[in-house]
Amino acid sequence: MRQLEVTWLGHAAFLLLTPGGKRVLIDPWVMSNPVCPTAYQEIKSVDLLLVTHGHFDHIGDAVSIARQTQAPIVSVFETSLWLSRKGVDNAVGMNKGGTLSIQGIQVKMVDAKHSCGIQDGEEIIYGGEAAGFILTLEDGLKLYHAGDTALFEDMALYGERYRPDIVCLPIGDRYTMGHGDAAYAVELIKPRWVIPMHHGTFDALPGSPGEFAKLVGSRAEVVILSPGQTRAFSPAFGGVR
Ligand code: NI
Ligand code: MN
Repeated sequence: MRQLEVTWLGHAAFLLLTPGGKRVLIDPWVMSNPVCPTAYQEIKSVDLLLVTHGHFDHIGDAVSIARQTQAPIVSVFETSLWLSRKGVDNAVGMNKGGTLSIQGIQVKMVDAKHSCGIQDGEEIIYGGEAAGFILTLEDGLKLYHAGDTALFEDMALYGERYRPDIVCLPIGDRYTMGHGDAAYAVELIKPRWVIPMHHGTFDALPGSPGEFAKLVGSRAEVVILSPGQTRAFSPAFGGVR
């Protein structure tokens, strides 16, 4: 099996090339994402799409990419109904606490403290609730994408119960927790690696990856990526707990 490759596309968008060779795109906001590199603005092939919630900066290009690639797209139930109404054939609904085995990957949906209205023209559609995902990949590595969220105590439960190796945490502040609360979240979750996200996209997101890394200290390895940058992870690098 190959190493997991994680590419940050800016904001909350990540492209994973899994140990089993699957391309997984999380929170596909690429075309109008001001920090997404041009090379990734058009995604032509993907095996699985995951959407944490219905805000434009997460669901942004989900409809067009899902229609074009016919890849299954996983989201909370109400959001999946909306995606189906928008002409997506492979919308897969689930809800928090559930696990889905799809494309060889275990996808668990977990809580996030955030809202989930979908902007649809002039209307705001009820999209269910915002969520996070804990993925178990083919080699056993676990990646927790927290979506947009405030700090909340169940993160400790997720750390204890699911033991994610890699965690993607929002640090931008204003719409999610900032770097201070995110560093506290690292104490709760206790991952080996943490990737800060949801920062630097707009001026309204003052959270700083440098400050975040200082606060986390030696509790986890802070992997600061720039948009378009890839990092490989393997259980052999330092052991899955
Ligand atoms: Ni949001
Ligand atoms: Mn957001």
